[in-house]
Amino acid sequence: MSSALVGIGPTPVEVPPVVHTLAARLRSGAAVVPVWRNEYGGLTVRLGSIPAPPRTTSSYLKWVPDDSACPDPLAEADRLVWASSFTRVPHVLDAGRDAHGSWLLTAAVEADGDVATSAVEPRWRAYAERAAIAIGVGLRRFHDALPTDTCPFVRTARMRVDALTTDETAPLAHAERATISAALGDPPPVDRLVVCHGDATVPNTLLDQVGRFAAHVDVGDLGVGDRWSDIAVTTRSVTRRYGAGLEPLVLAAYGVAPDRERTTYYRALWDAEEAVRARRTPPDHQPAGR
Ligand SMILES: Nc1ncnc2c1ncn2[C@@H]1O[C@H](COP(=O)(O)OP(=O)(O)O)[C@@H](O)[C@H]1O
Ligand SMILES: [Mg+2]
Repeated sequence: MSSALVGIGPTPVEVPPVVHTLAARLRSGAAVVPVWRNEYGGLTVRLGSIPAPPRTTSSYLKWVPDDSACPDPLAEADRLVWASSFTRVPHVLDAGRDAHGSWLLTAAVEADGDVATSAVEPRWRAYAERAAIAIGVGLRRFHDALPTDTCPFVRTARMRVDALTTDETAPLAHAERATISAALGDPPPVDRLVVCHGDATVPNTLLDQVGRFAAHVDVGDLGVGDRWSDIAVTTRSVTRRYGAGLEPLVLAAYGVAPDRERTTYYRALWDAEEAVRARRTPPDHQPAGR
């Protein structure tokens, strides 16, 4: 998840007892350090030694409560395993489900002997141009590396709109579904089919210690679709996280000219999906003060 992501600090985050229990079972004796909480009750903790900085021997445990609107960690594990043959994504150590929720345990991504860390870390705001370029380069590498013809996951605009407007588990009245469909209009013609990351935002891009692209995380929505589905979301995330004016840098680093129509469409589709996810999220999963 990402446009919906809520950073962990400065508010202390209480790690639920079920997550402590799970962490102790998966990595006995490891310190549990919360690193990220999303809007839908999902929590990611780093398991490893204290104090920070993280070590390359650390692992990351994402835990999602069973009634969450987050993509299923088990589905993400399948995508990570498939994608890892072609591109840098975390190595899956464990994934599972119990009565409380689902989880994914991955090895810390290493870059030149250090742990690669998220581009959303505050230090990159001082080097926003460098980070924006790394994010554009990283997205292009991802799109160039993953093969569409053998990818088992498909997520076209049409499928996403159908899911929004026909999915009976979404808490929408018939009239609302019709409104969403009409507001979005028909998807624009495909520019280039690629394997899309699905949530290619600043928090989900890892950089090395000097700000070069290192890897992607959070591929639960990976699937074949128009590349603008990712590009539109990436450019907006960069300007939201680092500041206005950086979109042309991301596009140049990716190697594509601006495309207003597709950018507008895919941002609107993303926003519609996020709105429905928010409606499916129990109030106790939503962080206070938003
Ligand atoms: N294997 C990993 N190596 C390094 N950092 C990771 C790893 N897995 C997760 N992270 C960190 O944890 C954050 C949250 O993980 P993510 O899968 O994006 O959860 P969410 O679905 O809640 O956004 C990421 O933005 C990244 O900073
Ligand atoms: Mg994420």
